[in-house]
Amino acid sequence: MTPIPQPRTRTHLPKRTVSIIGTGSYLPEKALTNAELEKMVETSDDWITSRTGIRERRIAAAGEFTSDLAANAAKSAIENAGISAAEIDLIIVASITPDMFMPSTACIVQTKIGAKRAVCFDISAACSGFLYAIEIAQQFITTQTFNTILVIGADKLSSIVDWKDRNTCVLFGDGAGAAILRHRAHGHGVIATRMGSNGELAELLHVPGGGCACPITPENVGQNLATIRMKGAETFKYAVNAMVDSARQVLDDAGLDPADLTCVIPHQANLRIINAVAERLELPLDRFMVNLNRFGNTSAAAVAIALDEANRTGRMKVGNYVLLVVFGGGLTWASSVIQW
Ligand code: ACO
Repeated sequence: MTPIPQPRTRTHLPKRTVSIIGTGSYLPEKALTNAELEKMVETSDDWITSRTGIRERRIAAAGEFTSDLAANAAKSAIENAGISAAEIDLIIVASITPDMFMPSTACIVQTKIGAKRAVCFDISAACSGFLYAIEIAQQFITTQTFNTILVIGADKLSSIVDWKDRNTCVLFGDGAGAAILRHRAHGHGVIATRMGSNGELAELLHVPGGGCACPITPENVGQNLATIRMKGAETFKYAVNAMVDSARQVLDDAGLDPADLTCVIPHQANLRIINAVAERLELPLDRFMVNLNRFGNTSAAAVAIALDEANRTGRMKVGNYVLLVVFGGGLTWASSVIQW
C-alpha cells in the first residue's frame, strides 16, 4: 500500500509571506492514566506504553465541548500574538467532533471569543485537519482576501470512543491547539505545503454511524456505531509511508534537506510511527517534538498543541526551518515547511 503521489500545492516562497504570529493550546484538567484504563478494559500500562508511548491522556468534563476547548486555545493564541479578537477576519476550525452538525463549531467559537468581524467555517480532515486549515488560511492571505486568520485544531475524541474497545480507547484524548496567521512585512513564513488523500482506504479508520448514511436509531443504538473503528496495523504502515513521502516531497519543494530542520512537529499518534519517520529521514529523535506520552492522540489538535509547546519552550528561533507532518482518517496526510 504505497501512498499515491500528492499534487504540488506550493513550490516557491509566495510574494506575500504568511507567518504564524502566535500559538495557543488548551488541555482539559482531567488526566486519564494507563493504570485507570487497566480497570476499564483488558489492557496493561506495559502494553500501552511499549506499543504506543502513551502514558496518559486528557478527558474533557461532561459539559465541556469541542467549542470550549477551541475557544480556550484561541484565547491563548490571541494573547500570544498580541492582537485583539476584533482583528480576526476568518476562523477555521478543523475537527471531527463538532459540537453539533449545525451551526459550525467555528461560529460557536466566534461568539465565545468575541471575534465579531470574522467569517467562520469548519473543515473535516481528521488528524490532518490543522495543516489543511493552515494551507487554506495561507491561500486567503496570499490572495489578500483576509489579513488575520485564526486556525484551530480541536477534538473531543472521548465523545466518539468506544470505551469497551481496547484496540482504540487507549489511544485517544481531548484537546485543542490554535495559531494566528498574518502577512508580516519582511517576515518569515510557510514555504511549502503538500496535502494528500486516499478515500479508497476510508475503512481503515472511520466512524460508521451518526451521519445520514447510518443514523443512530432505537434499533441500532446498542451497536455503538458512532464510535471510531480502526484497523491499527494497516493504518500504521500507511501512516509511516505517507508521512515520510510527504516530508521528502515538501522538503524538495522548499529546496531543503532533512538536516536543515531545527525541529520536526509530527502527528502524535504513536511513538513507534515517529521513530520510524525519524529513522527514514535519518534524523535524531531529539529533533522531533513529542508530547503524546502526556496527551495521547488528540486528532486535529495534536500537531497544533505540539506546535504551541515547541513555540513556548523556545525550540524554534527566528529563521529556523520547521517541518510539520500529519496523517489521519480519510485517509489524509499533509506536510508543511515553515521558516520560523
Ligand atoms: N491492550 C492489550 N492488548 C491489546 C490492546 C490493548 N489496549 N489493543 C490491542 N491489543 C492486542 C490485539 O488484540 C492483538 O492481539 P492478538 O495478537 O491476540 O490478536 C495484539 O494486541 C496486537 O494488535 P495489533 O493491532 O497488531 O498491535 P499494533 O502493534 O499494530 O499496535 C496500534 C496497535 C497501537 C493501534 C498501532 O497499530 C497504531 O498506532 N496504529 C496507527 C494509529 C494511527 O496512526 N492512526 C491515525 C491517526 S488517528 C485519526 O485520524 C483519528
